[in-house]
Amino acid sequence: MTENQTKIYKNKLVNIETYGCQMNFSDSEIVGSIMAEEGYQTIESAENADILFINTCSIRDNAEQRIRKRLKEIKRMKKDNPNLKVGILGCMAERLKQQLLDEEDVVDLIVGPDAYRDLPNLIKTVESGRRAINVLLSEEETYAEIEPVRLGSNKISAFISIMRGCENFCTYCVVPFTRGKERSRDPETILNEARDLLAKGYKEVTLLGQNVNSYSWESNATAVSFPELITLVAALSPLLRVRFATSHPKDISDELIKTIAKTPNICYAIHLPFQSGSNDVLKRMSRKYTREWYMDRIRTIKKHIPDCGLSTDIIAGFCGETEEDHKQTLSLMERVGYDYAFMFKYSERPNTIAQKKFKDDVSEEIKSRRLTEIIDLQQVLSLSANKQNIGKTFEVLVESFSKRSKEDLAGRNSQNKMVVFPKKDFNIGDYVIVKIKDCTAATLIGEAV
Ligand code: 5AD
Ligand code: SF4
Repeated sequence: MTENQTKIYKNKLVNIETYGCQMNFSDSEIVGSIMAEEGYQTIESAENADILFINTCSIRDNAEQRIRKRLKEIKRMKKDNPNLKVGILGCMAERLKQQLLDEEDVVDLIVGPDAYRDLPNLIKTVESGRRAINVLLSEEETYAEIEPVRLGSNKISAFISIMRGCENFCTYCVVPFTRGKERSRDPETILNEARDLLAKGYKEVTLLGQNVNSYSWESNATAVSFPELITLVAALSPLLRVRFATSHPKDISDELIKTIAKTPNICYAIHLPFQSGSNDVLKRMSRKYTREWYMDRIRTIKKHIPDCGLSTDIIAGFCGETEEDHKQTLSLMERVGYDYAFMFKYSERPNTIAQKKFKDDVSEEIKSRRLTEIIDLQQVLSLSANKQNIGKTFEVLVESFSKRSKEDLAGRNSQNKMVVFPKKDFNIGDYVIVKIKDCTAATLIGEAV
């Protein structure tokens, strides 16, 4: 649907609740678009909805437990809105399939991440009073030409999904089972989506994939790699900021690092999950790189992009992790000096390689203690990284008012750090040069210059 077309809704309302990663948020926008074609308007709350979709995450057990709790609440909610239909989308739908229908009587519909085009048919079944399920995975589906409905958008920054699936089979991870084979999206459709966002006034896009470094498109005479794709997107306008997530350390190339370094509107921020600082643990995780390889990638990044923002993901207490392994994780964190990190306790997932091959033998108590040590260290590192920015000036893209005060604006610099500064005459969507005066571990505080 283009902005000029006025959609005629048949007064049917859908609410989409999204949990988990950025990819899920991006998928919900595709679902919103497919539902709009069916005459459904997307609304912010489930209260008056005809259909409630829950786009779910399976990455850790607590993500699934949260959905189970939510389903109990929805059961109570259904007493006031008995006609409400409930659909489970995403990874939990794909992982549990029919079992979820059997266990949760409040659920009418189960749809896996590659089956959203089938929603119109499935909904017809549900509207006729039956339950429906489609969890087929696809080797081709990329929803390439679907123009997402932007949900909960600040109209400044948007996600563009450039590929789907993952074939890395890190032993702890459920994603290759829930999201299927890796496939890349036609670059022309990616560029069209970015052009359309630009025309609507968006200023920032984040290119999404489970491992963007293995993006690869081939057709007839053309072959496009990720560095080429990101260069094409950045070339659309110097006013468009381009970000990406996520990079796998085994695949991040010198070419990509040099491309970021030389392209002013590709942001200087790399999310490079290391998971563990110990080679023994990395091997059991099947991450296919060593600590030394990882540190070499970091050195190359710092050489070409000295002021690059760096972030990571860390897992505490993977199978067989010793105290020495854990210390190596802490020491790697210190060596790199990340700006921020997403930190997790290992959560065993059914049917993953780790679940079949290794014993989940680090006690809950030790996992918690190690995670606390990791979080405490990251707090120190974030504060110290932010302090180094005091006195520097950055270009900030304003995204919103500050949470604390309507007198202040908030946005991010190229390095992806949140910057807060007095509003004065500036507005959301402006690029503002800000000098940093102060900071916390999470935020830089400055003034426009
Ligand atoms: N337990 C804990 N953390 C996990 N992740 C993936 N699988 C698991 C698991 N079983 C983390 C990894 C990954 C991030 C998205 O989630 O750190 O990079
Ligand atoms: Fe999971 Fe590894 Fe794929 Fe990331 S790269 S989604 S951690 S299997």
